[in-house]
Amino acid sequence: MVHCQCMRNNTDLYTTIAQLMQSGKGILAADESDATAGKRLAIANLPNQTGNRQDFREILFTAPGIEEYLSGVILYDSTLRESTDAGIPFADVLVARGIVPGIKVDLGTNPIPEFEGEMVTQGLDNLDTRLKEYYALGARFAKWRGVITIGENIPTNEALELNAVRMAEYALIAQANGIVPMVEPEVLFPGTHSIGIAEEVTTRTLNILFSTLKKYRVDLKGLILKSSMVLAGDAYKDQSTTDEVATATLRTFKLSVPREVGGIVFLSGGQTPKRATENLQAIASYGKQAWPLTFSYSRAIQEPVLVTWQGKPENISTAQKVLLHRVKMNGMAQMGTYDSAQDMKEKK
Ligand code: G3H
Repeated sequence: MVHCQCMRNNTDLYTTIAQLMQSGKGILAADESDATAGKRLAIANLPNQTGNRQDFREILFTAPGIEEYLSGVILYDSTLRESTDAGIPFADVLVARGIVPGIKVDLGTNPIPEFEGEMVTQGLDNLDTRLKEYYALGARFAKWRGVITIGENIPTNEALELNAVRMAEYALIAQANGIVPMVEPEVLFPGTHSIGIAEEVTTRTLNILFSTLKKYRVDLKGLILKSSMVLAGDAYKDQSTTDEVATATLRTFKLSVPREVGGIVFLSGGQTPKRATENLQAIASYGKQAWPLTFSYSRAIQEPVLVTWQGKPENISTAQKVLLHRVKMNGMAQMGTYDSAQDMKEKK
């Protein structure tokens, strides 16, 4: 690796992180690849066409009031190049509202030969060139997702190490381009594992990740961790309570995430919108931690908006109110002031 940070002044990275990790705010992940966006549009009974994808993103990014609760939005390559019907680039719409545009830069996963059931993330080729263009288009942080499946004898340390080395290389290239790396080792929620197994796997994953990032001299202060919450698999016999999730998640972070890391954001991973908010509230109720913590949900924010929209122009305004409500609830949960009864009442 040749990306020496020795002379680099990373103040711009810290400024971006301060903007992203503001109290009462979080990040919307709207970075589905064009193929995955089809799964989201299916919720609104819409075909996966460019026009539908663009219309939905315009609904999200132009919703009145969201800047009060959103500090950033993660985009996909095609979305960063798209504009509103009025011709304003989406990135400019967000910047004008004080919301930092980010970009997903990994190119998905491939199986690791000889490691059955394990995947490694792709996307280092031409990354430096792509990041230079993304910066020019307005992106100031970049997400890279690794996928960790819990199963019989997996994940192996070898697979975790391979993913961690690639994350380190991507993080160095991002930082050299003035872009905050958001490293996302997602321990998948689907499965039959207990919360205890999820905790062991997440702690091991993060320990390997951070020892690798340190070894390759990534500036941890200029980096954000995007993590799964620690909870039992969706098919496990007992679903974890909010307090179990909060204590296991915080215990995991304390054992594996260095204090200097710029911030931690959560993915929702297939939890229902309300459950993702309640779990964030439970975590925040334990008070200030070494790192600022907030949400960076995709499905747990977008789903109710899609259900309301259904592709009909007459539903847009209500769909945007549903979005505002959801991000407001998550913003409150980030501060530990979320109230489930208020959530139900205001939703009506
Ligand atoms: O990579 C995954 C997204 O950034 C978060 O998506 O909240 O639906 O898990 P999710």
